[in-house]
Amino acid sequence: MLPLSFSSKLPDAGTTIFTVMSALAIEHNAVNLGQGFPDFPMNQELACLAAKAITDGYNQYAPMAGWMPLRESIAEKVDFLYSLSVDPDSEITIVPGGTCAIYCALTAILQPGDEVIVFEPAYDSYIPNILVNKAVPIKIPLSIPDFRIDWNSVKSAITEKTRAIVINTPHNPTGSILSASDLQQLSALVKGTGIYVVSDEVYEHLVFDGKQHESVLRYPELFARSFVCYSFGKVYNCTGWKLGYCISPAELTTEFRKIYQFNAFSAFTPTQVAIASFLKNHAVYLELSQQMQENRDYFINLMRATDFNLLHSSGSYFICGTYERISDEPDKDLALRLTKEAGVVTIPVSAFYQDSTEKRILRFCFSKKKETLELAVDRLIKYLGH
Ligand SMILES: Cc1ncc(COP(=O)(O)O)c(C=O)c1O
Repeated sequence: MLPLSFSSKLPDAGTTIFTVMSALAIEHNAVNLGQGFPDFPMNQELACLAAKAITDGYNQYAPMAGWMPLRESIAEKVDFLYSLSVDPDSEITIVPGGTCAIYCALTAILQPGDEVIVFEPAYDSYIPNILVNKAVPIKIPLSIPDFRIDWNSVKSAITEKTRAIVINTPHNPTGSILSASDLQQLSALVKGTGIYVVSDEVYEHLVFDGKQHESVLRYPELFARSFVCYSFGKVYNCTGWKLGYCISPAELTTEFRKIYQFNAFSAFTPTQVAIASFLKNHAVYLELSQQMQENRDYFINLMRATDFNLLHSSGSYFICGTYERISDEPDKDLALRLTKEAGVVTIPVSAFYQDSTEKRILRFCFSKKKETLELAVDRLIKYLGH
């Protein structure tokens, strides 16, 4: 043994539930409705553009802030979608994925002891990112079953130490979305304070039922204090590409880049080159909501033959379900049992909470081929009965 003493920065963090469940899926040959990734092929035109970028020789470091033609295409898209003019040079940074954008944003602004308001259930990187910066997560539960934010609770949670509020719309794991009124209330609450907003909008193109995505970018006053984080993996069904970006006002971007340049420094060049031209094709991302809504509806229809009670999903890849007619066991136990015995992987929503209070909600990912959804529901019916 070396005479080194080691104190973990994240003593309570284990392997993420997605890694655990995906490993179990392989071990038990289970259908994976757990981790959020599509099992259908990505856009082949974009795949060819990426391959071409490699053979054309775009294989060296991209500039730290990202391939300029891609940043310009993003600025054009933001203007087209949200009527906001952002400067590709000083307000957009390309990074290896949305998770990296969120980490760099939080690390850029947090000092030890700062408080950060997060809503639970929460995407699993937020709280560890806060903790590694020795800041304090202030957790506010979303209401069940509609998973809305109670803005009065937020108001009461704000103190002099509040440095940031993290929002996520459309929301993982619940599929809820924020409304214009939510954004207005947030804007009113932070006005005149030193509070930053980190807005996770990786599912911006997956909003259902004709609703519009309420991006922070629609609200210039809010944007002035925000880091808005995106992921191309979710836009083009290529989560393995790990390419995303952060849009923030120039002053905040300067601090963001100070962290990022000593972290990853730059992101994979060929995919940046490919997306730079492909992003100009608005139709591809504008069709996504309709396509994914069809998946959601197909899954909901199949699940009518089971005793699960699906909650409403307005966006993202996900829908949650309760199961009071099936069992009263905690969701972690049921998820494990379904993986091992029914051959279907789901994610227990309790994994998105830090405390150990038992929950009884499972998350299903419907960004899968129809055959995959059919096979999963068939197995559930065979195992659980009607
Ligand atoms: C809410 C949310 N934010 C961020 C990410 C991460 O995106 P990326 O894979 O680009 O890091 C995910 C991925 O599942 C997510 O669900």
